[in-house]
Amino acid sequence: MIRTIRRALLGALPEQVAKILRCIGAPNKFIHFPGATYNSDGLVTRHNADFLRDKLFVESYALARATGMTANDNPAWRHSVVYWAAYKASTLEGDFVECGVNRGSMSRGLIHYVDFGSLPKTLWLLDTFQGLAATHINDEERRLGRVPGGYTECLDAVRETFAPFKNVRVIPGTVPETLSQVTAQKVAYLAIDMNCVAPEIAAAEFFWDKLVSGAVIVLDDYGFELHEPQKRAFDEFAARRGCRVLSLPTGQGLIFKP
Ligand SMILES: C[S@@+](CC[C@H](N)C(=O)[O-])C[C@H]1O[C@@H](n2cnc3c(N)ncnc32)[C@H](O)[C@@H]1O
Repeated sequence: MIRTIRRALLGALPEQVAKILRCIGAPNKFIHFPGATYNSDGLVTRHNADFLRDKLFVESYALARATGMTANDNPAWRHSVVYWAAYKASTLEGDFVECGVNRGSMSRGLIHYVDFGSLPKTLWLLDTFQGLAATHINDEERRLGRVPGGYTECLDAVRETFAPFKNVRVIPGTVPETLSQVTAQKVAYLAIDMNCVAPEIAAAEFFWDKLVSGAVIVLDDYGFELHEPQKRAFDEFAARRGCRVLSLPTGQGLIFKP
């Protein structure tokens, strides 16, 4: 089967390859792309991927994976974007916030990458720690496959992962209801990864005025297949503020606060 697919892909243009892979439901990782430096998580490239061998990245990503993250694939490039954003934000005034934490892989990785424990900042982690809320999923998202729950309960595991860090606050419950518990007046880094529009836009609205100039919002699902409602909502959100979302080949989107 794999040999047949490989033969079919020989000589195909990149967009034809992507289409064939989608049609057969095969992840890229089963296909050999000659010269690929990275082939995972829906992204194949021959571009430089030296970060994969960077000592600090390797250590950080190992800690991220040790949280038991539930990603189907190996999202190393997405982590490198998150760590870069965190590094930039570490040079600004303001706290870090992640809405949509699950087992805390990205936050655990970035803590090591920027030595967050030594910074005069708080990292606020907001999640139900038991998946999506039924009331937040709209009809279009339901048709696209979003379901209530969808993640195993992980609050105790997250508390244990972040217990060594005195400047991390874990806030269980549904966004937007829990947003008021974040008492930060200034925010330098905002990661949003809740898989549906309503809580994500509510979080972005809540924090927009608190984001300092140069602060970065990392949207994890922005360009992902079957997540178009989130992309549309954030394109509109950014446009209303005179900004544009930077679409990354990892599927992430970045917004910089002017
Ligand atoms: C894709 S996971 C987040 C992955 C995480 N960023 C990481 O580093 O691995 C999505 C998370 O969003 C959470 N979530 C979805 N809707 C939520 C809501 N309204 N309030 C709080 N958390 C929510 C889910 O419980 C789930 O843990």
